[in-house]
Amino acid sequence: MHGAGAARPLKSRRSLALRGTAEVPGDKSVSHRALILGALTVGETRITGLLEAEDVLNTAQAMRAFGAQVVRHGPGSWTVHGTGVGGWREPDNILDFGNSGTGSRLVMGAMATTPIMAVYTGDSSLRGRPMARVLDPLTEFGAVYIARARGLMPVTLQGATLPIAVEHHVAVASAQVKSAMLLAALNAPGRSRISQSELTRDHTEKMLKAFGADIAVEPLTKGEAIHITGEVELKPCAVDVPRDPSSAAFPLVAALIVPGSEVRIPAVLLNPRRIGLIDTLLEMGANIAIENDRESGGERIGDLVVRASSLKGVEVPPERAPAMIDEYPILAVAASFAEGNTVMRGLEELRVKESDRLSAIAAGLTANGLTLAETHDTLTVEGRGADGVPGGGRVITHMDHRIAMSFLTMGLASKNAVSVDDTAMIATSFPEFEKLMRDLGADFQAVNV
Ligand code: S3P
Repeated sequence: MHGAGAARPLKSRRSLALRGTAEVPGDKSVSHRALILGALTVGETRITGLLEAEDVLNTAQAMRAFGAQVVRHGPGSWTVHGTGVGGWREPDNILDFGNSGTGSRLVMGAMATTPIMAVYTGDSSLRGRPMARVLDPLTEFGAVYIARARGLMPVTLQGATLPIAVEHHVAVASAQVKSAMLLAALNAPGRSRISQSELTRDHTEKMLKAFGADIAVEPLTKGEAIHITGEVELKPCAVDVPRDPSSAAFPLVAALIVPGSEVRIPAVLLNPRRIGLIDTLLEMGANIAIENDRESGGERIGDLVVRASSLKGVEVPPERAPAMIDEYPILAVAASFAEGNTVMRGLEELRVKESDRLSAIAAGLTANGLTLAETHDTLTVEGRGADGVPGGGRVITHMDHRIAMSFLTMGLASKNAVSVDDTAMIATSFPEFEKLMRDLGADFQAVNV
C-alpha cells in the first residue's frame, strides 16, 4: 500500500563532478494517455518506452478492470487491446489509483459518458486532492457522482446513460481537467467545445488526433478552444513514449549546481508546453545545449547536454506556470544556488498537487538555511550563490515524490548534507532515480531510523 510501508529516509552529500549519460524513463503524461486511448480502441495499440512507475501501473490495472487486455512484453514494451469508445465494462471492484491525480482524473473522464458505475480511491495524498474540479464539469455530459465533502475521494461515478455534447470553459489551468472533458466527449453524440484560457499540455489532443479522432484546435485571443466530435471510432496506433522532461529536471539541475559536472540526457520530450524549466534556466545563465533536435511520433525531442553553470536570479512570469507546473520544486533548488533573488508567480495550482507543494518547498528551503518569501501564489527565493547554500536540513516530503527528489538534488552541492524523511514515493514517477543519480556520481547515504 502506498505510504503505509516503512519510511525510507535518505541523505545526500556534497558530491564530486557528475559525469555520464542519464537515460530518464518515459513521460508520465504520455504513458497514462497511451494506456487509456488504447483501452478506448478496438484492436492492438503497441506502446514502447512506457513509464513503468506506480502511477502508470495503477492506470494499466484500471484499464484491465474496465475490460481491456493490457500486456507487458518486456521493459517499456506493452500492448493494449481495448473495447472501443463506449465499450468499457463496469469494474467489479473499487479502483485504487494510489498517488495519481492524472490517472484517476483522466479515467473519470474516459468513463463519464458510458452507462457504468465505478468507485475511485487512492492513497492519503490523493484522497486529500480536489476532485470536484473534474467531476462537476463531467456532470454536464449527464454523469452523476457522489463524493466525500469538498469532492474528495472515495468517489462513486455513474456514467451518463444518454450523454450529450457540451460547450465548456475549463476554469482552472489544468491539463487533467481539459483532458477528462475531451475523453468524455468521445462518447457524446455531436460536437463538443472545450476551451481554456491557459495553454496547458496538449498530449491528449495530439494523441487523439493520432488515434483518428475528429478534433480541431481553434486559437483564441486568450487560450484556445478544442472542438471534438463524439461517437467516432478510434483506430489503433503505435505510441513511442519520449523520455520525461519532468524527470530529466533532476539530473539537469544537479549537473548545473555540482561544480565541474557534464551530463547528457538523451531523447527528452521537448513539447513547447513542457519546457518552461529549460527556458527559465537558460535565462538564469545555465549552460544547456540541445542536440539532435528532432521529431518523433508528433512530438519534439532532443538530447540535452548540461554543464555546471553560474546561475543568476530571475523573475518567472505567471503565464509560464502551466509549462513548468511540476518543476517549481527543482527550480527553487536551482534558485538557491543562484546569485540574487528568483521570483516565481502564478503558483496557486501548487497548493493542490501531491502535497501543498508551495508550503513543502518553503519549509524545505527554510530547513536548509535559506531565506524566502511566500504568499498564496508566489515564492521568492534569496539565492546564496554556487557555494553558499548551508543545507543540513531534514526535509518532510509529505508523500510527494518531487519534493523528495528536489531536496536530494540540493544536498549534492550544499555545504552540509540534506536528508529527506521518505523516498518511497519516488517510485510513483521515477523508480530508477536513486541508481541513475548514483551512477552519475551522486553521494546518497542511507539514514538509520
Ligand atoms: C498532468 C497535468 C498537470 C501535472 C501532472 C500531469 C497531465 O496537472 O501537474 O503531473 O498529465 O495532464 P494539472 O492538470 O492538475 O495541472
